[in-house]
Amino acid sequence: MDVKANAGAVLSEAEVAERVEALISQMSLEEKVGQLTQVGGVAFVPGPKPEEVIRKGGAGSVLWLNDTKQFNALQKIAVEESPCKIPLLFALDVIHGYRTIFPVPLAMASSWDPSVAERAQTVAAKEARAAGLHWTFGPMLDIARDARWGRIVEGAGEDPFLGAAMATAQVRGFQGPTLGAPDRVVACAKHFAGYGAADGGRDYDPVYLPEGQLRNVYFPPFEAAVRAGVGTFMSAYMDLNDVPASGNRFLLRDVLRGEWGFGGFVVSDAFAVASLVTQGFARDGRDAAFRALRAGLDMDMASNTYAENLAGLVEDGTLKPDDVDAAVRLILAIKVRMGLFEQPYVDESKLAQIVALPEHRKEARLAAQRSMVLLRNEGHLLPLPRTLENVAVIGPLADSKEATEGSWMVFGHTPAAVTVLEGIRAKLPGARVEYAPGPEIRRDIASWMDFLDSEARKAPQTPEEAQAAFQAALATARSADVVVMALGEAADMAGEAASRASLDLPGRQEELLKAVVALGKPVVLVLLNGRPLSIGWAAENVPAILEAWEPGSEGGHAVADILFGDINPGGKLPITFPRKGSHAPLYYARNLTHSPEGSPMYNPRYWDGLPTALFPFGFGLSYTTFSITNLKVAAPQVKVGNSVTVTADVTNTGSVVGDEVVQLYIHQKAGSDSRPMRELKGFERVTLRPGEKKTVSFLLEPAELGYWSTGAGKWVQEAEAFDVWVGADSTATLHADLVVVR
Ligand code: BGC
Repeated sequence: MDVKANAGAVLSEAEVAERVEALISQMSLEEKVGQLTQVGGVAFVPGPKPEEVIRKGGAGSVLWLNDTKQFNALQKIAVEESPCKIPLLFALDVIHGYRTIFPVPLAMASSWDPSVAERAQTVAAKEARAAGLHWTFGPMLDIARDARWGRIVEGAGEDPFLGAAMATAQVRGFQGPTLGAPDRVVACAKHFAGYGAADGGRDYDPVYLPEGQLRNVYFPPFEAAVRAGVGTFMSAYMDLNDVPASGNRFLLRDVLRGEWGFGGFVVSDAFAVASLVTQGFARDGRDAAFRALRAGLDMDMASNTYAENLAGLVEDGTLKPDDVDAAVRLILAIKVRMGLFEQPYVDESKLAQIVALPEHRKEARLAAQRSMVLLRNEGHLLPLPRTLENVAVIGPLADSKEATEGSWMVFGHTPAAVTVLEGIRAKLPGARVEYAPGPEIRRDIASWMDFLDSEARKAPQTPEEAQAAFQAALATARSADVVVMALGEAADMAGEAASRASLDLPGRQEELLKAVVALGKPVVLVLLNGRPLSIGWAAENVPAILEAWEPGSEGGHAVADILFGDINPGGKLPITFPRKGSHAPLYYARNLTHSPEGSPMYNPRYWDGLPTALFPFGFGLSYTTFSITNLKVAAPQVKVGNSVTVTADVTNTGSVVGDEVVQLYIHQKAGSDSRPMRELKGFERVTLRPGEKKTVSFLLEPAELGYWSTGAGKWVQEAEAFDVWVGADSTATLHADLVVVR
């Protein structure tokens, strides 16, 4: 098989196609089906051993393996012993870092700085590729408006505009400028589509979303990923409007390829082709394979349903040979572009050099600093003075490497993050920094993924041990001048199969927080969590609250940098914080109603507690203050099809350098559909010295002024009046009018 070229060379479409055809012409049907089959590289996946499958040409890709030597060993079998010698694609979930762990994606979105996400995923890609991986199952682009849904931690939050910006940045970071860059990986936009809207926030449950919601809210990050050149897509598990996403022709063919022109390949979520039967959609494996392939699903992740059924379906004429060939072509094209035929192996000495690069840790610290959100700072308790001599660090997460790295640890990775305790100790080398974890926290119902989490596997505390830990924590707090409490969620409390009905601090954390606050000491609450939490009591009674999320390898240092004022926090919430779990889904871009808030006709939505945001979307404080003034819409009227510039001035009115995220929101006042009362349409994070002023400029383009209309059944841009706001969060009051005319 002669497919030599310079590794890393950018090939034209025609060159790629020529090579793919040369390969296809030599392949048997079985080998073609093999290319459409992704096999698990670990013991928990049933079926024959990967070596045997690969030797016969029965696999195009391997996942759930994270072993450089083993990659080379399997690759050798593929390129030397399999019939057509086609190299394998090695894939793994590298979601927020490979060895250097970055803040979880929800945190990175809190930076409101897409370059943070791009640089993070560049580092992740370099490390993963050095380990021998070619393909990551990220970015996760599911818009999520229900904080109960565990996988909210993996995405960019509730907003399509912010989500699309983060999608583009992550694809660029993972893949580099062109697919096939030697030190990058192929990205995978997942989970297409609607997964974040699972009924009740319950993972895997069905999703019902009208087309307008899909197109206006859930699709934009995916479309942005296609525009950024993403190589692959992953179909979601759940039923979307009663059709499983993995057998959904509307999603995988009509929209993804037909409308957006996606030219890469689609992989199912794990075992999702077989699940078409479990979900009561396909009759049996044969039916599942037929319907998934016809719907546009190219590669079967781990379920073996394609391997078992596709050849038979072609042989008896149910499928045409070209149905299979079309999918094979897409997969081979990625392999050709990735330079795998020229360079199938990985240099086994490379990983150690790459992961040791100091700039990777530097980037992780910067990302964590920029991701954190200051939620409260009464009486300017923060920043704390460096002269503190006696600090207590309390809480079950204060010294937890697992919780600091958070959800989606890379398979086989040992958490090694700097914890909050370690970060504070490093910042205050001369001080007495005492630590007490308090009672442990754990899920009421264990996760099937806990086999990956050593903390979750520990024997549970007895009630007596928990009580002793509670008292010990109080005693430690009592003897300190300042108490830092690190509370939130353990690593297995957010992520896949980690939805919850309540958003309260799990376990006895709030009880401990109340007891510590009652001591009358200054208390700083540092939250480590993968979703919004309903911390209503803390929001009124704890003077300083820093949302640190799950901040990654350098998380503890970044927390200390902020607590002691080396860094001024500038992150903003990418998601609304509800007051209670039962208020979810709660998001800012709701429609107005017959009884709008603030009107004389207003009826409380619930009589047992108003479902208003505890902290609104876009919110975050700073150690300085800003004013945003002088909002100007370049022309009061703009013609349909034209763009208009919106500007505003932002000034640092405080006494330290700081960052503000200036946000632009619009509202279309009437039209063929009711439109959300506010929608984010622009943002920019700026750094200003005290007294410094900057004019921020946003271009409102026709696409931003249009929408997919349910009433009209198509994309529209309407000649209507708009409200425009610019400000520091989604409650901005600085207002201007804009009229779109024909
Ligand atoms: C998850 C995906 C993931 C896949 C492979 C599934 O359970 O839903 O997000 O990429 O496993 O690990």
